[in-house]
Amino acid sequence: MPATAREWESIWAPYDEPTYNQVLELIRPNDVVLEIGAGDLRLARRLAYIAREVIAWEMQTAVLTNAAHGLPDNLAVYAVDARRAAVPKGVTTAVLLMRHCQHFHLYANKLHSAGCQRLITNARWGMGVEAINLQVPRMLYTTTPMGWYACWCGATGFKPGPAEYLNPELETAVHEVVDCPSCRHPLAN
Ligand SMILES: C[S@@+](CC[C@H](N)C(=O)[O-])C[C@H]1O[C@@H](n2cnc3c(N)ncnc32)[C@H](O)[C@@H]1O
Repeated sequence: MPATAREWESIWAPYDEPTYNQVLELIRPNDVVLEIGAGDLRLARRLAYIAREVIAWEMQTAVLTNAAHGLPDNLAVYAVDARRAAVPKGVTTAVLLMRHCQHFHLYANKLHSAGCQRLITNARWGMGVEAINLQVPRMLYTTTPMGWYACWCGATGFKPGPAEYLNPELETAVHEVVDCPSCRHPLAN
């Protein structure tokens, strides 16, 4: 059995139907979607029903061998390592379903630089699906108020503060930051 998060990352395992539905509901007809780590293409095929174009990256050729047949015209599949591949021009939305992803920061930087607008992922919180606006300005941790934060590096957490400031809104609001205590590699620099 694999022991480390890095080993988990290299395993192909499909997600459940509610997770796929959460992703599909966020896809728009004009989207050009890049799926990072597409496995046997079961989600990529469904993405291609909705989106204008889908590009699927998967590094395990064995997984692709049995899957990449009878593809829709708007789905292009590449057997590549996403850490090294360049994001194609025109990608509007990326999908990264990889709860144990160790390379969130790398992918976020590459997608941001390529002008990609959104990243739909379960990689930051390790649960649920979120759509991250990649082009929105982010806050510095020091100026972020008490509450949940999600960092550009992929880390998440709760910034502490006085107990009397706790309220129900703090439980759902998430602040996007660039320099959380665990990353020390601020995008702002
Ligand atoms: C948890 S599976 C999810 C598969 C698919 N997205 C789905 O939801 O059905 C993650 C996939 O990412 C692939 N993967 C992990 N790291 C990768 C990398 N650096 N480049 C390309 N594929 C990668 C794995 O081989 C695996 O198939």
